[in-house]
Amino acid sequence: MSKRVAVAAANWKMNKTCAEAATYMADLKALLPTVEGTAEVVIFAPFTALATVAAGGSSAGVGGQDVFWMAAGAYTGEISLGMLQDVGCTHVLVGHSERRRRFGKPEPELAGDLGCVFGDNDATVNKKLTAVVAAGLVGCLCVGETLAERQAGQTDRTIEAQLRAGLAGLDAAAVANTLIAYEPVWAIGTGEVCQEDEAERVCAMVRGVVAALYDQATADTVRVLYGGSMSGENVDGLLCQPNIDGGLVGGASLTVAKFEPIIRRCAKG
Ligand code: PGA
Repeated sequence: MSKRVAVAAANWKMNKTCAEAATYMADLKALLPTVEGTAEVVIFAPFTALATVAAGGSSAGVGGQDVFWMAAGAYTGEISLGMLQDVGCTHVLVGHSERRRRFGKPEPELAGDLGCVFGDNDATVNKKLTAVVAAGLVGCLCVGETLAERQAGQTDRTIEAQLRAGLAGLDAAAVANTLIAYEPVWAIGTGEVCQEDEAERVCAMVRGVVAALYDQATADTVRVLYGGSMSGENVDGLLCQPNIDGGLVGGASLTVAKFEPIIRRCAKG
């Protein structure tokens, strides 16, 4: 089995104007040639900043944070794959927990009694990923359990169900080219990182599900990232694990200075 190239993926979420994105990309362009080893760097930026990220002239991939699967039409507020490709996108995030449902700490100012404002589910996530693959872009499928699911002992069952539903209908070649991000919901944006041996256990389980659904070669090829409060301080312990092939990084990706140690550790292999 050849060594998988690690991925350092920034998820800016709802942050950065075009001017801020341009400054960041200039810093990143200067940094990347100084990084020893090989890593793939991807910047998942807000739709409005994607063209700026693509114009930055760095070797980083350009990622949308979501997409709608229809090609065009009366879908106010939505963005198609053609539109993402038009501004230079190479990657698309699909099924981030912040788009599936808001769990955990109550956020009454966000959703009130709705409990959920965006509402992706396994079926829509599958439609989105299928459309991403059909367009020839790289999807990053996010899976992860809530705190309640973990406490109820349902971590593995939840993730296996998300994988089966999310990957349904995709062939082995498509899955081998897809990124899978294991992001425990309770670790996202909380500073509470998943223990490295537990993150490794779940990422190995993810790979095992891919092997069961497809074959060992596909499982050996697919990159499984960890996400949830990854930082320069904890990246080494996580990347040492044999089944963790990089990170999907929110808060610690918002400045190049904080993202740099993660990129450098990913590139070390
Ligand atoms: P975080 O976010 O690194 O800020 O926890 C990760 C993510 O949501 O992708």
